[in-house]
Amino acid sequence: MSNTPHTPFDLRALHDAEVTDPLALIGQHINPTYSKVLKILGYDINYTHGRGAYLYDGETQYIDGLGGFGVFACGRNHPVIRDALKQAMDMDLPNLPKFGPTRLSGLLAKQLVDIAPGDLNTVYYCNSGAESVETAIKYARAATGRDRIVYCKKAYHGLTMGALALNGSKDFREGFGSMLDNCVDVPFNDLEALEEKLRRGDVAGFIVEPIQGKGVFLPDDDYLPGAVELCHKYGAVFIADEVQTGFGRTGKMFACEHWGVEPDIMCVSKALSGGYVPVGATLSKRWVHNKVFSTMDRVLVHSTTFGQNDLAMAAGLATLHVLKTEKIVENSATMGERLIGRFQQIVDKYDMAKQVRGKGLMVALEYGPPKGITLKAGWALLHKLDQGLFPQAILIPLLSDHRILAQVAGHHMDVIKLTPPLVLSEADVDHIADAIETVTAACHKFPGPVWEVGKRLSQAVLKR
Ligand SMILES: Cc1ncc(COP(=O)(O)O)c(C=O)c1O
Repeated sequence: MSNTPHTPFDLRALHDAEVTDPLALIGQHINPTYSKVLKILGYDINYTHGRGAYLYDGETQYIDGLGGFGVFACGRNHPVIRDALKQAMDMDLPNLPKFGPTRLSGLLAKQLVDIAPGDLNTVYYCNSGAESVETAIKYARAATGRDRIVYCKKAYHGLTMGALALNGSKDFREGFGSMLDNCVDVPFNDLEALEEKLRRGDVAGFIVEPIQGKGVFLPDDDYLPGAVELCHKYGAVFIADEVQTGFGRTGKMFACEHWGVEPDIMCVSKALSGGYVPVGATLSKRWVHNKVFSTMDRVLVHSTTFGQNDLAMAAGLATLHVLKTEKIVENSATMGERLIGRFQQIVDKYDMAKQVRGKGLMVALEYGPPKGITLKAGWALLHKLDQGLFPQAILIPLLSDHRILAQVAGHHMDVIKLTPPLVLSEADVDHIADAIETVTAACHKFPGPVWEVGKRLSQAVLKR
């Protein structure tokens, strides 16, 4: 077998073949509903490549306001991270020996521990954000010998069964049967409600996103420090889910730093590997770790096959290098401030633009009912048909007329959200703000182009 000659494989030719219609392939073999939705919304663009803060369809450039849901903090296809991966491949590394140490995972763990808030000195690697949350649930239970996990209303921690049990929106849970026992919710930003749950003395951990991703809700200044104090008072662990907010997204390396919070467990993923290789990590205090891996025969009691894989580790090391040397976290803070400032001007000027929320480049703009009678009727009609139509009617012209890809911030909310690569320039920020102002101005004219989009969408909804 070792003498069998290799047959070359031409990935580029396969990718570029004229006959390949990506939407049709998705429709046939991955998710027909998704392909239908992309078509209805006009999101069926055949992107050819991506670079930095942009996606391209041939020569046409789009600002990527989603950043792959936040994974491209350093920008798409960053050359330094790509080169690190090429180097790793050329090194014929002893990847995944399983029973034997690997070098890159230790090096990355050391760096993660160095930049993490407080005393998080142990790293567990996995493959996604949800998996890092599953780990946190198990760690909290093992550390405390208790079962109950408290989470926040509107929370999002991923969609595997454990993480789903901590989801603050019932839409994600519907149709999937009974959930993990003993998970209870509390309103975000409510220390009294949290204390009421903790007081029973049976809570293993409280998990919270320092800034909630769905809708982009920020905590009051005393909330997170107060929550840590309460958790410790009642013997529970404090879990910060920094899967979305980590690695510069909010203008600090970790969002916990805005409030001087030191978690007992911290979940990260998304931007850690520059968007190239799936990865997740759960950082914990040593005492927590020791409770999980308490004896020699429990050494692999929690593990996953691809954890510590060399390509993810190489990408992680290169990502931390790029974040630091290219001052990307600082850019997120300055560009975020500029964007939020511009959005505030829109809120001050237009009736239906109600509030801007965010930190760094995690920014949301909330719309609300207009005052004028005709506009109010249009608003009511659209919302009667479907609660999610209005923000989509904003996002469609944003993409088709202004070439900016963005998203609705969550179910049943009139909120649009941006999580672009953190390498955005001033000109990009101004283009985004100008475009959103134009579309917002247009939705104050009834009939008008935004309402036409709404009408078209509602017809599609009615046909469903
Ligand atoms: C705060 C938070 N936690 C967990 C997750 C789940 O991550 P993944 O989609 O990688 O499973 C997400 C994903 O958006 C998230 O925003």
